[in-house]
Amino acid sequence: MAEIIDGKAIAAAVKEDLAAQAKMYEEKYGRKIGLAVVKVGNDPASEVYVRNKIVACGKTGVRSFSYELPEDESEEDLLALVDKLNDDPEVDGILVQLPLPKHLNEKKVLARIRPEKDADGFHVVNAGGILLGLPCTKPCTPAGIIELIKSTGADISGKHAVVIGRSNIVGKPCAMLLLAENATVTICHSRTVDLKSITLTADILVAAVGIKEFVTGDMIKPGAIVIDVGMNRENGKLYGDVNFPEAEKRAAYITPVPGGVGPMTIAMLLKNTVEAAYRCREN
Ligand code: GUN
Repeated sequence: MAEIIDGKAIAAAVKEDLAAQAKMYEEKYGRKIGLAVVKVGNDPASEVYVRNKIVACGKTGVRSFSYELPEDESEEDLLALVDKLNDDPEVDGILVQLPLPKHLNEKKVLARIRPEKDADGFHVVNAGGILLGLPCTKPCTPAGIIELIKSTGADISGKHAVVIGRSNIVGKPCAMLLLAENATVTICHSRTVDLKSITLTADILVAAVGIKEFVTGDMIKPGAIVIDVGMNRENGKLYGDVNFPEAEKRAAYITPVPGGVGPMTIAMLLKNTVEAAYRCREN
């Protein structure tokens, strides 16, 4: 039976360390570190994520500035808010929760956030930095995934890591971070032919497809590390992208849903914010 990677506990330890750093910042500079959280519209999943992020700020001693904008918010007004937050000296990090309503140009909005305040690591400058291995803000979920893998004590170097999913938020940056750890990386997606033959060779398998229990036990190499990024809500219950009962019989380590990747994503968001605050003072 697989050992469970306790994302909640690992995230709690990260947040405890960040809370100490946030307290030191406040003592040194006379104000709290600040994160602006912008939500547009009423996407039910976004409501939950944003609430969790704001609660986590409070527990870590980071001040949150919450903006809940209507579904029909104009792009002009949203960009004006981003400009205002970019110029606000009390705001160290900015996040615009995705997805945005269809009439808003996501790329344009994300590009407007100053890269130094890009708490999500979604700005093209940070995305490019990951590709080139430059110091940059890393997207929260992929950064959290690397921490979860490392928490097992496994050496990533030389391992075959298979990422299912090629989104800009998770799949692509996750593959780059695994590559930076010297893994041999394969990215699979909806057009991949004979997916199972590839996943069966994965020492590390990251499932970021967004389909409930898509990865079944027979797709997992015995002894693999399985990271489940799925957040599939059905009748009020949360399901991962991995069939957990089957997978835990084959894997050596596995993340649960909930309590795996989700809490780490939030911990990494706070880490990015704290680091942005200090970077701004020290540069
Ligand atoms: N939507 C899904 N995941 C994320 C995330 O990590 N950050 C933001 N801003 N939006 C998301």
